[in-house]
Amino acid sequence: MNKPFSDYLDECQQRIDAALPSLVGNRHSEYADDSGELLSRLFEGMHYSLLNGGKRVRPLLVYAAAQAINRAFANDDGLDNVAAAVECIHAYSLIHDDLPAMDDDALRRGQATCHIAFDEATAILAGDALQSLAFELLANVPSLPAERQLAMIRALAAAAGPRGMVGGQAIDLASVERSLTLGTLEIMHQLKTGALLRAAIKLGAVYAGANNEQLQRLDQYGRAIGLAFQVQDDILDLESSTEVLGKTQGADAARNKPTYPALLGIEAARDYAQTLYDQALAAIAPFDDSADGLRELAAFIVQRQH
Ligand code: IPE
Ligand code: IPE
Ligand code: MG
Ligand code: MG
Ligand code: MG
Repeated sequence: MNKPFSDYLDECQQRIDAALPSLVGNRHSEYADDSGELLSRLFEGMHYSLLNGGKRVRPLLVYAAAQAINRAFANDDGLDNVAAAVECIHAYSLIHDDLPAMDDDALRRGQATCHIAFDEATAILAGDALQSLAFELLANVPSLPAERQLAMIRALAAAAGPRGMVGGQAIDLASVERSLTLGTLEIMHQLKTGALLRAAIKLGAVYAGANNEQLQRLDQYGRAIGLAFQVQDDILDLESSTEVLGKTQGADAARNKPTYPALLGIEAARDYAQTLYDQALAAIAPFDDSADGLRELAAFIVQRQH
């Protein structure tokens, strides 16, 4: 079996996995009294959902985008804050996505979902906490020009909010049992999943000091792979197994969710993912081999099996 990631992407994965625990922290040791004890359940819920694996595609995009712009910046410790911030938003979105009021899923990354392993209130609060923590991490990036920091905060907030991920989730929930046009389906996918992936690329690029033309090209790449990611997610929901996915296979069909395979058929959905992959590569064609991490990630996104 092919290794999913190149050595470079493996290193990036190890880098984010090593950085996350200390960036999230533990319940406050400064609270020696009972409040420390009462807080521990919240921190356990956060750790459970953030540190239990995951492919780390969004942090990898942060690192690979920075690498495409300027290797020196890509090695900064401060970039770990940025990669962690995006992963915190992602982990929060998954915890809430699985809640009974949303997708009502019991399995995530091969384990019980947060609200099953803990309880609903803890899952809601763990998601809330990870969302705030993301912006604290960005605000705490050391020694970066303030305008780059502000641009990163603005981009992540927009991608996570009502005109980004949360907006996409709202369309998703409102469209259960309804048939969407292809145009609306694309908007929903771009918002609920594409926006955060696109932001990950932008944050890495802004951190490393990208110019406008570079930002535009990377955004075209991000638009294509962001959509391709959810098209592939929909395909896997239909074709994979619960064991391989680590989440319940067939959950979309069971809830009559509008998806690309449901609307286009599986073959056309696959072709569309491939077209998006080609578009992503074309957008970054002028970059030299410093953008190979992004090229490998694009291939991974459309070939991934979980
Ligand atoms: C799953 O995202 C949710 C979607 C946005 C489709 P990932 O497939 O990146 O989940 P993990 O982090 O690897 O578990
Ligand atoms: C998730 O879409 C998008 C998010 C913002 C989390 P899905 O509902 O398809 O994600 P999975 O399949 O549960 O991971
Ligand atoms: Mg969902
Ligand atoms: Mg879901
Ligand atoms: Mg899905």
